[in-house]
Amino acid sequence: MFGLIRLFSFFVIFEGIVAMVSPYQNQTESHHFQAPGEGDVRSPCPFLNVLANHGYVPRSGKNVTIPDIVKGGREGFNVGPNFFRLTGKYGLLTSPNIDSFNLDDLNLRGYIEMDTFLTRPDAFFAPNNTNLPFNETVYQTMASSNPGVDYYNVTSQAQVQDARLNHSIANNPELVNDATSLFARSAASALILSILGDPKTGVAKKSVVDTLMREERMPDGWKRPEDVIDVDTIRPLTQAIMDVSNWPGPNNGTYPGAQQLVIFGGF
Ligand SMILES: *[C@@H]1O[C@H](CO)[C@@H](O)[C@H](O)[C@H]1NC(C)=O
Ligand SMILES: *[C@@H]1O[C@H](CO)[C@@H](O)[C@H](O)[C@H]1NC(C)=O
Ligand SMILES: *[C@@H]1O[C@H](CO)[C@@H](O)[C@H](O)[C@H]1NC(C)=O
Ligand SMILES: *[C@@H]1O[C@H](CO)[C@@H](O)[C@H](O)[C@H]1NC(C)=O
Ligand SMILES: *[C@@H]1O[C@H](CO)[C@@H](O)[C@H](O)[C@H]1NC(C)=O
Ligand SMILES: *[C@@H]1O[C@H](CO)[C@@H](O)[C@H](O)[C@H]1NC(C)=O
Ligand SMILES: *[C@@H]1O[C@H](CO)[C@@H](O)[C@H](O)[C@H]1NC(C)=O
Repeated sequence: MFGLIRLFSFFVIFEGIVAMVSPYQNQTESHHFQAPGEGDVRSPCPFLNVLANHGYVPRSGKNVTIPDIVKGGREGFNVGPNFFRLTGKYGLLTSPNIDSFNLDDLNLRGYIEMDTFLTRPDAFFAPNNTNLPFNETVYQTMASSNPGVDYYNVTSQAQVQDARLNHSIANNPELVNDATSLFARSAASALILSILGDPKTGVAKKSVVDTLMREERMPDGWKRPEDVIDVDTIRPLTQAIMDVSNWPGPNNGTYPGAQQLVIFGGF
Protein backbone atom coordinates (compact mmCIF):
# COMPACT_ATOMS: atom_id res chain seq x y z
CA MET A 1 0.00 0.00 0.00
CA PHE A 2 2.90 2.33 0.77
CA GLY A 3 4.21 1.94 -2.77
CA LEU A 4 0.84 2.87 -4.19
CA ILE A 5 0.56 5.96 -2.08
CA ARG A 6 4.05 6.94 -3.15
CA LEU A 7 3.01 6.48 -6.75
CA PHE A 8 0.01 8.71 -6.17
CA SER A 9 2.22 11.30 -4.47
CA PHE A 10 4.36 11.30 -7.56
CA PHE A 11 1.34 12.14 -9.67
CA VAL A 12 0.35 14.90 -7.25
CA ILE A 13 3.75 16.57 -7.54
CA PHE A 14 4.05 16.00 -11.24
CA GLU A 15 0.56 17.19 -12.02
CA GLY A 16 0.90 20.10 -9.62
CA ILE A 17 3.75 21.51 -11.68
CA VAL A 18 1.65 21.68 -14.79
CA ALA A 19 -1.50 22.78 -12.98
CA MET A 20 -3.49 25.39 -14.78
CA VAL A 21 -6.52 27.18 -13.50
CA SER A 22 -9.15 28.78 -15.62
CA PRO A 23 -11.70 31.36 -14.49
CA TYR A 24 -15.08 30.00 -13.48
CA GLN A 25 -17.93 30.44 -15.88
CA ASN A 26 -21.56 31.23 -15.21
CA GLN A 27 -23.00 27.80 -14.52
CA THR A 28 -26.68 28.50 -14.98
CA GLU A 29 -26.39 30.20 -18.35
CA SER A 30 -24.07 28.24 -20.61
CA HIS A 31 -24.08 25.02 -18.64
CA HIS A 32 -27.65 23.80 -18.59
CA PHE A 33 -28.28 20.05 -18.40
CA GLN A 34 -28.98 18.22 -21.60
CA ALA A 35 -29.11 14.42 -21.81
CA PRO A 36 -26.90 12.86 -24.51
CA GLY A 37 -28.54 12.67 -27.92
CA GLU A 38 -28.23 10.36 -30.90
CA GLY A 39 -24.57 9.64 -31.64
CA ASP A 40 -23.25 11.19 -28.43
CA VAL A 41 -21.02 8.96 -26.32
CA ARG A 42 -20.43 8.72 -22.59
CA SER A 43 -17.91 7.12 -20.23
CA PRO A 44 -18.27 4.64 -17.35
CA CYS A 45 -17.58 7.53 -14.92
CA PRO A 46 -20.69 9.42 -13.74
CA PHE A 47 -18.72 12.61 -13.01
CA LEU A 48 -17.23 12.80 -16.50
CA ASN A 49 -20.67 12.23 -17.96
CA VAL A 50 -22.09 15.06 -15.88
CA LEU A 51 -19.39 17.35 -17.25
CA ALA A 52 -20.46 16.40 -20.79
CA ASN A 53 -24.18 16.65 -20.01
CA HIS A 54 -23.62 20.22 -18.78
CA GLY A 55 -21.26 21.21 -21.58
CA TYR A 56 -18.11 21.53 -19.46
CA VAL A 57 -16.52 19.12 -21.93
CA PRO A 58 -17.87 18.59 -25.47
CA ARG A 59 -21.50 17.50 -25.21
CA SER A 60 -20.93 14.93 -27.94
CA GLY A 61 -18.38 13.20 -25.71
CA LYS A 62 -16.15 13.02 -28.77
CA ASN A 63 -12.68 14.39 -29.51
CA VAL A 64 -12.17 15.34 -25.89
CA THR A 65 -8.68 16.60 -24.99
CA ILE A 66 -6.79 16.57 -21.70
CA PRO A 67 -7.13 20.38 -21.36
CA ASP A 68 -10.91 19.98 -21.94
CA ILE A 69 -11.16 17.56 -19.02
CA VAL A 70 -8.89 19.51 -16.69
CA LYS A 71 -10.65 22.82 -17.36
CA GLY A 72 -14.13 21.25 -17.26
CA GLY A 73 -13.41 19.39 -14.02
CA ARG A 74 -12.25 22.57 -12.35
CA GLU A 75 -15.17 24.65 -13.55
CA GLY A 76 -17.84 22.04 -13.00
CA PHE A 77 -16.75 20.38 -9.76
CA ASN A 78 -13.77 22.37 -8.51
CA VAL A 79 -11.72 19.21 -8.90
CA GLY A 80 -8.01 19.97 -9.25
CA PRO A 81 -5.97 19.04 -12.29
CA ASN A 82 -4.17 16.09 -10.73
CA PHE A 83 -7.36 14.03 -10.91
CA PHE A 84 -8.68 14.64 -14.36
CA ARG A 85 -5.27 14.89 -16.01
CA LEU A 86 -4.73 11.28 -15.08
CA THR A 87 -8.14 10.39 -16.48
CA GLY A 88 -7.28 12.29 -19.65
CA LYS A 89 -4.01 10.40 -20.02
CA TYR A 90 -5.93 7.15 -19.75
CA GLY A 91 -8.27 8.54 -22.39
CA LEU A 92 -5.39 9.07 -24.79
CA LEU A 93 -4.02 5.61 -24.05
CA THR A 94 -7.35 3.99 -24.80
CA SER A 95 -8.11 5.94 -27.99
CA PRO A 96 -6.89 5.52 -31.56
CA ASN A 97 -6.93 9.33 -31.99
CA ILE A 98 -3.66 11.23 -31.76
CA ASP A 99 -4.47 13.94 -29.25
CA SER A 100 -8.08 13.42 -28.21
CA PHE A 101 -10.40 10.61 -27.21
CA ASN A 102 -14.06 9.72 -27.07
CA LEU A 103 -15.55 9.23 -23.61
CA ASP A 104 -16.55 5.65 -24.41
CA ASP A 105 -12.90 4.78 -25.14
CA LEU A 106 -12.52 4.89 -21.35
CA ASN A 107 -14.59 1.73 -21.03
CA LEU A 108 -11.50 -0.36 -21.77
CA ARG A 109 -11.09 -2.56 -18.68
CA GLY A 110 -8.47 -1.65 -16.15
CA TYR A 111 -8.09 2.10 -16.70
CA ILE A 112 -11.00 3.90 -15.14
CA GLU A 113 -13.34 0.96 -15.86
CA MET A 114 -12.79 -1.56 -13.11
CA ASP A 115 -14.65 -4.49 -11.58
CA THR A 116 -17.01 -4.05 -8.59
CA PHE A 117 -17.82 -0.42 -9.33
CA LEU A 118 -20.86 1.14 -7.74
CA THR A 119 -22.97 2.04 -10.77
CA ARG A 120 -21.93 -0.36 -13.53
CA PRO A 121 -21.79 -4.17 -13.73
CA ASP A 122 -18.43 -5.87 -14.19
CA ALA A 123 -17.60 -6.22 -17.88
CA PHE A 124 -17.87 -10.00 -17.44
CA PHE A 125 -21.63 -9.68 -16.80
CA ALA A 126 -22.24 -7.21 -19.63
CA PRO A 127 -19.62 -7.63 -22.35
CA ASN A 128 -18.98 -5.53 -25.47
CA ASN A 129 -19.64 -2.20 -23.76
CA THR A 130 -23.15 -3.13 -22.62
CA ASN A 131 -21.82 -2.36 -19.12
CA LEU A 132 -21.35 1.28 -20.13
CA PRO A 133 -24.66 2.83 -19.03
CA PHE A 134 -25.76 3.37 -15.44
CA ASN A 135 -27.34 0.19 -14.04
CA GLU A 136 -30.03 0.50 -11.34
CA THR A 137 -29.72 -3.15 -10.27
CA VAL A 138 -26.06 -2.61 -9.48
CA TYR A 139 -26.69 0.75 -7.85
CA GLN A 140 -29.26 -0.75 -5.47
CA THR A 141 -26.42 -2.02 -3.27
CA MET A 142 -25.36 1.56 -2.60
CA ALA A 143 -28.84 3.07 -2.72
CA SER A 144 -30.00 0.75 0.07
CA SER A 145 -26.94 1.31 2.26
CA ASN A 146 -26.90 3.19 5.58
CA PRO A 147 -30.60 2.49 6.23
CA GLY A 148 -32.53 4.81 8.52
CA VAL A 149 -30.50 7.93 7.77
CA ASP A 150 -30.45 10.24 4.76
CA TYR A 151 -26.71 10.25 4.14
CA TYR A 152 -23.83 8.05 3.02
CA ASN A 153 -20.53 8.06 4.89
CA VAL A 154 -17.19 6.23 4.98
CA THR A 155 -18.61 3.32 6.97
CA SER A 156 -21.49 2.74 4.58
CA GLN A 157 -19.27 3.14 1.50
CA ALA A 158 -16.85 0.54 2.87
CA GLN A 159 -19.75 -1.85 3.42
CA VAL A 160 -21.06 -1.24 -0.09
CA GLN A 161 -17.61 -1.93 -1.53
CA ASP A 162 -17.40 -5.14 0.49
CA ALA A 163 -20.83 -6.24 -0.73
CA ARG A 164 -20.01 -5.46 -4.37
CA LEU A 165 -16.73 -7.33 -4.05
CA ASN A 166 -18.41 -10.32 -2.39
CA HIS A 167 -20.88 -10.47 -5.26
CA SER A 168 -18.09 -10.44 -7.83
CA ILE A 169 -15.98 -12.99 -5.94
CA ALA A 170 -18.99 -15.31 -5.96
CA ASN A 171 -20.05 -14.74 -9.58
CA ASN A 172 -17.26 -13.29 -11.73
CA PRO A 173 -14.52 -15.76 -12.70
CA GLU A 174 -12.63 -12.93 -14.42
CA LEU A 175 -12.65 -10.64 -11.39
CA VAL A 176 -9.60 -8.44 -10.87
CA ASN A 177 -9.18 -7.64 -7.19
CA ASP A 178 -5.74 -6.29 -6.39
CA ALA A 179 -4.33 -3.57 -4.12
CA THR A 180 -4.61 -1.00 -6.90
CA SER A 181 -8.29 -1.72 -7.39
CA LEU A 182 -8.94 -1.51 -3.63
CA PHE A 183 -7.29 1.91 -3.64
CA ALA A 184 -9.18 3.01 -6.78
CA ARG A 185 -12.53 1.85 -5.39
CA SER A 186 -11.94 3.65 -2.10
CA ALA A 187 -10.71 6.81 -3.86
CA ALA A 188 -13.84 6.78 -6.03
CA SER A 189 -16.04 6.56 -2.92
CA ALA A 190 -14.01 9.33 -1.26
CA LEU A 191 -14.47 11.49 -4.34
CA ILE A 192 -18.23 10.99 -4.25
CA LEU A 193 -18.44 11.88 -0.55
CA SER A 194 -16.18 14.91 -1.10
CA ILE A 195 -17.65 16.47 -4.24
CA LEU A 196 -21.25 15.81 -3.27
CA GLY A 197 -20.88 16.12 0.49
CA ASP A 198 -18.06 17.23 2.72
CA PRO A 199 -14.40 16.28 2.21
CA LYS A 200 -13.72 16.69 5.93
CA THR A 201 -16.59 14.75 7.48
CA GLY A 202 -17.07 12.35 4.57
CA VAL A 203 -20.84 12.70 4.79
CA ALA A 204 -22.98 13.23 1.67
CA LYS A 205 -26.74 13.49 1.35
CA LYS A 206 -28.29 10.46 -0.32
CA SER A 207 -30.71 12.54 -2.39
CA VAL A 208 -27.85 14.57 -3.90
CA VAL A 209 -25.66 11.54 -4.62
CA ASP A 210 -28.53 9.47 -6.01
CA THR A 211 -29.60 12.23 -8.40
CA LEU A 212 -26.12 12.68 -9.80
CA MET A 213 -25.50 8.94 -10.15
CA ARG A 214 -28.87 8.06 -11.67
CA GLU A 215 -29.48 11.09 -13.87
CA GLU A 216 -25.89 12.21 -14.49
CA ARG A 217 -26.73 15.83 -13.87
CA MET A 218 -25.79 18.39 -11.24
CA PRO A 219 -28.36 17.96 -8.45
CA ASP A 220 -30.68 20.83 -7.53
CA GLY A 221 -29.54 22.56 -4.39
CA TRP A 222 -26.01 21.18 -4.65
CA LYS A 223 -23.18 23.69 -4.81
CA ARG A 224 -19.73 23.19 -6.26
CA PRO A 225 -17.22 22.65 -3.42
CA GLU A 226 -15.60 25.89 -2.29
CA ASP A 227 -12.15 24.38 -1.84
CA VAL A 228 -10.36 22.50 -4.59
CA ILE A 229 -10.82 18.74 -4.39
CA ASP A 230 -7.71 16.83 -5.44
CA VAL A 231 -5.88 13.62 -4.69
CA ASP A 232 -4.49 15.09 -1.46
CA THR A 233 -7.88 16.35 -0.31
CA ILE A 234 -9.46 12.93 -0.57
CA ARG A 235 -6.51 10.93 0.78
CA PRO A 236 -7.75 10.85 4.42
CA LEU A 237 -11.22 9.66 3.40
CA THR A 238 -9.72 7.12 1.01
CA GLN A 239 -7.63 5.75 3.86
CA ALA A 240 -10.58 5.78 6.28
CA ILE A 241 -12.65 3.72 3.84
CA MET A 242 -9.83 1.23 3.30
CA ASP A 243 -9.34 0.97 7.07
CA VAL A 244 -12.94 -0.06 7.77
CA SER A 245 -13.46 -2.28 4.73
CA ASN A 246 -12.99 -5.99 5.20
CA TRP A 247 -10.83 -6.52 2.15
CA PRO A 248 -10.05 -10.23 1.87
CA GLY A 249 -6.76 -9.60 0.00
CA PRO A 250 -5.96 -9.91 -3.71
CA ASN A 251 -6.80 -12.61 -6.18
CA ASN A 252 -4.55 -13.10 -9.17
CA GLY A 253 -6.82 -11.79 -11.92
CA THR A 254 -5.43 -9.21 -14.36
CA TYR A 255 -7.10 -6.76 -16.71
CA PRO A 256 -6.59 -7.43 -20.40
CA GLY A 257 -6.53 -3.69 -21.10
CA ALA A 258 -2.77 -3.32 -21.20
CA GLN A 259 -2.60 -5.79 -24.06
CA GLN A 260 -5.35 -4.01 -25.94
CA LEU A 261 -3.93 -0.49 -26.04
CA VAL A 262 -4.61 1.10 -29.38
CA ILE A 263 -1.15 2.67 -29.53
CA PHE A 264 -0.76 1.74 -33.18
CA GLY A 265 -4.27 2.70 -34.18
CA GLY A 266 -4.42 3.86 -37.80
CA PHE A 267 -1.58 1.65 -39.04
C1 LIG B 1 -25.58 33.88 -14.76
O1 LIG B 1 -26.55 33.80 -15.78
C2 LIG B 1 -27.88 34.05 -15.31
C3 LIG B 1 -28.84 33.79 -16.46
O2 LIG B 1 -28.50 34.56 -17.57
C4 LIG B 1 -27.95 35.48 -14.76
O3 LIG B 1 -29.25 35.72 -14.27
C5 LIG B 1 -26.94 35.65 -13.64
O4 LIG B 1 -26.93 36.98 -13.21
C6 LIG B 1 -25.54 35.26 -14.12
N1 LIG B 1 -24.63 35.25 -12.97
C7 LIG B 1 -23.39 35.79 -13.02
C8 LIG B 1 -22.59 35.69 -11.76
O5 LIG B 1 -22.95 36.32 -14.01
C1 LIG C 1 -12.34 13.84 -34.22
O1 LIG C 1 -11.19 13.02 -34.26
C2 LIG C 1 -11.18 12.15 -35.38
C3 LIG C 1 -9.98 11.23 -35.26
O2 LIG C 1 -8.81 11.95 -34.99
C4 LIG C 1 -11.16 12.98 -36.67
O3 LIG C 1 -11.21 12.11 -37.78
C5 LIG C 1 -12.36 13.91 -36.69
O4 LIG C 1 -12.28 14.76 -37.79
C6 LIG C 1 -12.42 14.74 -35.44
N1 LIG C 1 -13.66 15.50 -35.41
C7 LIG C 1 -13.70 16.76 -35.05
C8 LIG C 1 -15.06 17.39 -35.05
O5 LIG C 1 -12.71 17.37 -34.72
C1 LIG D 1 -27.59 -4.55 -14.97
O1 LIG D 1 -26.53 -5.41 -14.62
C2 LIG D 1 -26.92 -6.75 -14.45
C3 LIG D 1 -25.68 -7.52 -14.01
O2 LIG D 1 -25.30 -7.11 -12.75
C4 LIG D 1 -27.47 -7.31 -15.73
O3 LIG D 1 -27.93 -8.61 -15.51
C5 LIG D 1 -28.63 -6.45 -16.19
O4 LIG D 1 -29.05 -6.89 -17.45
C6 LIG D 1 -28.20 -5.00 -16.28
N1 LIG D 1 -29.35 -4.18 -16.56
C7 LIG D 1 -29.46 -3.44 -17.65
C8 LIG D 1 -30.69 -2.63 -17.80
O5 LIG D 1 -28.54 -3.41 -18.48
C1 LIG E 1 -19.00 -9.65 -28.03
O1 LIG E 1 -18.28 -9.37 -29.23
C2 LIG E 1 -17.53 -10.47 -29.70
C3 LIG E 1 -16.70 -10.02 -30.87
O2 LIG E 1 -17.48 -9.28 -31.78
C4 LIG E 1 -18.47 -11.63 -30.04
O3 LIG E 1 -17.74 -12.74 -30.46
C5 LIG E 1 -19.27 -12.00 -28.80
O4 LIG E 1 -20.23 -12.98 -29.12
C6 LIG E 1 -19.98 -10.79 -28.22
N1 LIG E 1 -20.58 -11.18 -26.95
C7 LIG E 1 -21.82 -10.84 -26.64
C8 LIG E 1 -22.33 -11.37 -25.33
O5 LIG E 1 -22.51 -10.12 -27.33
C1 LIG F 1 -22.08 6.37 9.35
O1 LIG F 1 -23.45 6.40 9.57
C2 LIG F 1 -23.94 5.33 10.38
C3 LIG F 1 -25.45 5.49 10.49
O2 LIG F 1 -25.76 6.71 11.11
C4 LIG F 1 -23.26 5.34 11.75
O3 LIG F 1 -23.68 4.21 12.49
C5 LIG F 1 -21.75 5.32 11.56
O4 LIG F 1 -21.11 5.45 12.81
C6 LIG F 1 -21.33 6.45 10.66
N1 LIG F 1 -19.89 6.38 10.41
C7 LIG F 1 -19.07 7.35 10.79
C8 LIG F 1 -17.61 7.14 10.47
O5 LIG F 1 -19.43 8.36 11.33
C1 LIG G 1 -18.42 -10.30 2.54
O1 LIG G 1 -18.02 -11.63 2.69
C2 LIG G 1 -17.32 -11.88 3.91
C3 LIG G 1 -16.76 -13.29 3.87
O2 LIG G 1 -17.80 -14.19 3.57
C4 LIG G 1 -18.25 -11.62 5.09
O3 LIG G 1 -17.54 -11.80 6.30
C5 LIG G 1 -18.74 -10.20 5.01
O4 LIG G 1 -19.72 -9.98 6.03
C6 LIG G 1 -19.37 -9.89 3.67
N1 LIG G 1 -19.63 -8.45 3.64
C7 LIG G 1 -20.74 -7.95 3.11
C8 LIG G 1 -20.90 -6.46 3.22
O5 LIG G 1 -21.56 -8.62 2.51
C1 LIG H 1 -4.48 -18.02 -9.51
O1 LIG H 1 -4.62 -18.44 -10.87
C2 LIG H 1 -4.52 -19.85 -11.07
C3 LIG H 1 -4.56 -20.11 -12.58
O2 LIG H 1 -5.62 -19.47 -13.19
C4 LIG H 1 -5.65 -20.54 -10.31
O3 LIG H 1 -5.57 -21.94 -10.50
C5 LIG H 1 -5.53 -20.20 -8.84
O4 LIG H 1 -6.61 -20.78 -8.13
C6 LIG H 1 -5.52 -18.70 -8.63
N1 LIG H 1 -5.27 -18.37 -7.24
C7 LIG H 1 -6.02 -17.53 -6.56
C8 LIG H 1 -5.61 -17.26 -5.14
O5 LIG H 1 -6.99 -16.96 -7.04
